[in-house]
Amino acid sequence: MANNIEDDLKLAIDKLGKGDELALDVGTGRARMAYALAKYGYDVVSIEYVINILKKARESTNLVNGDGKIVFIQGDAHHLPFLDESFGVVASYNAMHHMKDYKKAIDEMVRVCKCDGKILITELNESGKERVAEMHSQRGSHHESNIDIYDVVSYLNTAYNIKGEVYNAEYIDIFYSKK
Ligand SMILES: C[S@@+](CC[C@H](N)C(=O)[O-])C[C@H]1O[C@@H](n2cnc3c(N)ncnc32)[C@H](O)[C@@H]1O
Repeated sequence: MANNIEDDLKLAIDKLGKGDELALDVGTGRARMAYALAKYGYDVVSIEYVINILKKARESTNLVNGDGKIVFIQGDAHHLPFLDESFGVVASYNAMHHMKDYKKAIDEMVRVCKCDGKILITELNESGKERVAEMHSQRGSHHESNIDIYDVVSYLNTAYNIKGEVYNAEYIDIFYSKK
């Protein structure tokens, strides 16, 4: 059983396994997914909207990531600044519910994913939502998530006929598929 939400990240990254392709992490935040991808051998490009969050992510991963495997870029997930089919892996860890339009962000992730690429997306499940809401309320802030992984799965399925596997971890649900 996972002690915290981050423990579930290992389960997600294990779905993908080790590799050396170029991977995109969308909504990098504290860069936990980006760092996990780099540790599994991927060259990572991280996209984050908020410059201060991006700076912090860069500083924290610099301490542990001497091999320069993560490139941090300020950008908008709804308009990814990359050519079609640029990445062997597109990933996002608990970030879709932060997007203004998660369907547009998914459109972009699918667009920049190679035709034989892999898609790894996680979202908080009910326990995860409660846990994060509790953490925020202790800090005097507020957290809300109006979507879950099944919204993501349903969109990928209807818009792109992408059907993958959903794995239910303790705090997050994990979607993994080949494009
Ligand atoms: C909860 S964090 C995700 C956690 C993160 N993936 C990790 O591995 O630590 C969500 C992040 O998505 C970012 N975000 C929200 N809208 C975005 C957008 N349109 N483009 C890029 N990043 C965005 C937020 O600024 C926030 O840092």
